[in-house]
Amino acid sequence: MEKYFYLETFGCQMNVVDSERIVTMLGEIGYQQVATADSADLVLLNTCSVRDKAERKVYGHLGRFKPIKDARPELIIGVGGCVAEQEGEKMLKEVPYLDLVFGTHNVHRLPELVQQAEQGNRRLSVTGFLDQETRLNLFPQRSDLDTVTRFVTIMQGCDNFCTYCIVPHVRGREISRPSAEVIAEVEALVAQGVREVTLLGQNVNSYGDKSSGEIGFPELVRKVAAVEGLLRLRFTTSHPKDLSDELIACFGDLDNLCHQLHLPVQCGSNEILEQMNRGYSREDYLLTVQKLKTACPDIRLSTDIIVGFPGETEENFQQTLDLVAEVGYADAFTFLYSKRTGTPAAEIVDKTGARIKQQRFERLLELQHSTSRNIWESDLGECFQVLVEGASKQGEGQMFGRTTANRIVNFAGAADLIGTMVDVKITQVYRNSNLGELQNS
Ligand code: SAH
Ligand code: SF4
Ligand code: F3S
Repeated sequence: MEKYFYLETFGCQMNVVDSERIVTMLGEIGYQQVATADSADLVLLNTCSVRDKAERKVYGHLGRFKPIKDARPELIIGVGGCVAEQEGEKMLKEVPYLDLVFGTHNVHRLPELVQQAEQGNRRLSVTGFLDQETRLNLFPQRSDLDTVTRFVTIMQGCDNFCTYCIVPHVRGREISRPSAEVIAEVEALVAQGVREVTLLGQNVNSYGDKSSGEIGFPELVRKVAAVEGLLRLRFTTSHPKDLSDELIACFGDLDNLCHQLHLPVQCGSNEILEQMNRGYSREDYLLTVQKLKTACPDIRLSTDIIVGFPGETEENFQQTLDLVAEVGYADAFTFLYSKRTGTPAAEIVDKTGARIKQQRFERLLELQHSTSRNIWESDLGECFQVLVEGASKQGEGQMFGRTTANRIVNFAGAADLIGTMVDVKITQVYRNSNLGELQNS
């Protein structure tokens, strides 16, 4: 008999990659994915706890499945990811109709848990961190997706312990995957038709630093870039404190390394950066940006910024605005500080009112929107190489792809262009994508 599962994924790319693995594993035990929970035998949420809002969403979403469970008690409901890791068995107590809880180091055990639940053995929870050796064998691997672009996980966990951040607490210590395995996976992906790879980890810049005998990140980038047939390479996320001159040089030297970098700054004030335990100063960061722009003049930068860290003054915030104006980010992901229990920043007395924080957030957003608009509008009338990824959501006869700067471009073209690099002239610039015309080459 066919069995069906419904899966919702929240949070960052790590969870997206874990979810791809879940799809593959559940396929192996006879489950097919469906688009709604109504007819599913198994409902799963892969969750994020980086901010309070993300966490609350999980409980809200679980509530939606209760009526389905009331009507069909045999339905299996499971929660995985970072909220599951953090809350563990507590979730089973709080949500009486929840069957399975599986943490970030135990995704591989999901099939076994589901099979137990099928046999009536429910209310199971597996969380807690595994030893390094075991984890090294459990890196998310490619599934059978047929895409032009893919993420390849090169490291897991984080050792940075920024004082506001829950990630090290829910993902565990940093480990790097052997470089030979990374390269073998990229080669296999390229053989399968993948043309662009993004190397993935919480802090890819420190790749290999803690594994004896392993190469460092700049060398890994060079080796991956040399894989025959790989048209494009990106990586994310970079921590500014570990962005070496050797890595910066790669942007000048490697033809297939994209001219784009996500470099989270979090804040422009030294006082706050220190309290955040970020390990760099405003001056260090600006120097890195300057070096990047020298090595690769058309590089487009994006960032993450937290507004309203406990104790942030108007002056501190003004320094963030100044830094944002000076760097000129093509995109910025801005967040209001969210208190995470168990992190050191949660202990800092915070006297700034919510309204002031909200106003600061809006001021930053306004500055960023106008900067982004100016940068993206400068593409108008220009010609770019676009790696074609597939049919566009914009309508029939349209394809979509991205520029080296990671900008989505929609254009009229045929499906046989998928996986190739074409020249496209930009004719319209919208907020999140461009429209272009295919050029005859
Ligand atoms: N490893 C990455 C991203 C981690 S989480 C890095 O270090 O850059 C993604 C973003 O969420 C962070 O860059 C930060 O801007 C934001 N974030 C993390 N914890 C937060 C908190 N407690 N409140 C608000 N934003 C937070
Ligand atoms: Fe969180 Fe800092 Fe690690 Fe990023 S580097 S995941 S912000 S602790
Ligand atoms: Fe969220 Fe976990 Fe990623 S907390 S940001 S899903 S590592």
